[in-house]
Amino acid sequence: MSKVVSGIRPTGNLHLGNYFGAVQNFIRMQEEHDCYFFIADWHSLTTHPTPEQLHNNVRQVLAEYLACGIDSEKACIYVQSDVKEILELYLLLNMNAYLGELERTTSFKDKARQQPNNVNAGLLTYPVLMASDIIIHKANQVPVGKDQEQNLEMARKFARRFNNMYGSEVFPIPKPYTYNGAEMVKVPGLDGSGKMGKSEGNGIFLIDTDKQITKKVMKAVSDSGPTEPNQEKPEAIQNLFTLMSIVSEPSTLDFFNDKYNACEIRYGDMKKQLAADIIQYVTPIRKNIEDIYNDEAYLAKVAKQGAEKARESAAATLKEVRKLIGFRNF
Ligand code: ADP
Ligand code: TRP
Repeated sequence: MSKVVSGIRPTGNLHLGNYFGAVQNFIRMQEEHDCYFFIADWHSLTTHPTPEQLHNNVRQVLAEYLACGIDSEKACIYVQSDVKEILELYLLLNMNAYLGELERTTSFKDKARQQPNNVNAGLLTYPVLMASDIIIHKANQVPVGKDQEQNLEMARKFARRFNNMYGSEVFPIPKPYTYNGAEMVKVPGLDGSGKMGKSEGNGIFLIDTDKQITKKVMKAVSDSGPTEPNQEKPEAIQNLFTLMSIVSEPSTLDFFNDKYNACEIRYGDMKKQLAADIIQYVTPIRKNIEDIYNDEAYLAKVAKQGAEKARESAAATLKEVRKLIGFRNF
């Protein structure tokens, strides 16, 4: 059974893109692998949240992941800052992480451009902390999106470098992981082009009310309709169909496809159906989120249990690492 580690930055509510693109795979993975899923609250400090924001975001993300079906009995779910062992490894890895390679990282360059008044050292060493998160559990596989590929490549580099330096195989080299080698689902936005995302400002969130969902879907970009049978779909229209293929019954999708191909489609009807199907999908999850968010005792229990298991795994690795480096007890 391979070890899987993945971190989630607590930066906002989950949208359908996060759910179908990432969370659903976590739920499948937890059945087959030894999974460590954590909330990367230290990482989120690079953008200086207020204390209230920090705490609320962690609590919200934890509640949302549990509500979706990530199961604390199957996977180890924890808050990064509860596992101080990660910091020791972070310090040790920093000794072999070079300024030049850190400065060349695309995500660092992007952030430095986005927040020129806050180019802090945490931002620079973000990939080192991420590498610690991963290799502290001797992870074999890391499910991450495209934007994290370079950070994962750095983690592989730091693991290899440490192994070589101390002539050991203490760290497996972590591989990127796609569930069953499947193409990752990309959930489109409904604003004409591109993906659904927080920064794109086009998210349909799991906690949105029925009314908000309906409003967002009814506002989706469409056009005046096809003029010839079996016409190719422009991007905005394809996006409506793609979202429908994700949330609706196949027969519903076929129905609207046939209408489109016969030039009889009414986008108003299609959007109403799509909104209804999204609502049906998210209603039970939304209810769960509310219940779990308000159940402080349950959240505390999950976090405590997760931290204990994660610390045990982390401490075992650190013990080997300290010995390799030459730390000895008197
Ligand atoms: P956002 O794009 O909202 O900022 P993140 O970058 O925090 O979301 O992504 C968290 C996870 O959700 C990643 O694994 C990412 O690949 C996945 N994800 C985000 N948006 C989508 C989308 N539209 N389609 C598929 N997966 C997505
Ligand atoms: N950097 C990741 C992101 O922004 C979050 C993250 C932190 C992570 N540590 C990790 C992901 C370890 C995978 C493994 O999405």
